[in-house]
Amino acid sequence: MPHVGEAEYSLEKDRLTVEVNLLGAIAWLNQAAECFVRSQAGTIVGISSVAGDRGRRGNPAYCASKAALDAYLEALRHRLVRSGVTVVTAKPGPVDTRMSAGVRRRPFLISADRAARQILAAARRGTPVAYVPGLWRPVMCAIRSLPHSLFACLDI
Ligand SMILES: NC(=O)c1ccc[n+]([C@@H]2O[C@H](COP(=O)([O-])OP(=O)(O)OC[C@H]3O[C@@H](n4cnc5c(N)ncnc54)[C@H](OP(=O)(O)O)[C@@H]3O)[C@@H](O)[C@H]2O)c1
Repeated sequence: MPHVGEAEYSLEKDRLTVEVNLLGAIAWLNQAAECFVRSQAGTIVGISSVAGDRGRRGNPAYCASKAALDAYLEALRHRLVRSGVTVVTAKPGPVDTRMSAGVRRRPFLISADRAARQILAAARRGTPVAYVPGLWRPVMCAIRSLPHSLFACLDI
């Protein structure tokens, strides 16, 4: 998630974001899917983000890459359901890591250890879409339901 300035429109940065977050993830997901289908078992976890739920002004390519990853993981889940393979989409809010270190606001920030434990628990339960922490589920449900005119007024 490179920093993107308010007046910055860089194809180079956006392409790198999509390559790493989406194509990089798809490359691994395909390998994992083939391998797990052969064993007719297993759980694949994709790390998406709450950022995929709405197109925010801060980093359009990051939001877009995570929204596309959400759709890819959902499709994979449907593809693999009859093979005994589970696909879990983890959607963390801010996690205290190198990636989020320079971010101005980090609501409901949690440690990487806590995020990892919650993601692992969701994988064990086979939760299709796991918000991390779970508080983000109702928050994002509310934010997703905001009409554009209201969403545009928010500084997020
Ligand atoms: N931190 C958050 O607030 C947050 C919130 C929601 C979702 N997420 C998601 O959680 C996942 C892990 O992020 P993190 O928070 O753990 O961040 P992180 O500590 O900064 O780790 C990012 C990882 O991505 C790798 N990476 C970065 N640029 C890359 C590139 N160009 N090519 C290949 N690998 C690259 C890094 O590899 P090196 O170690 O080799 O540099 C590192 O392993 C990401 O998918 C992120 O979108 C994070």
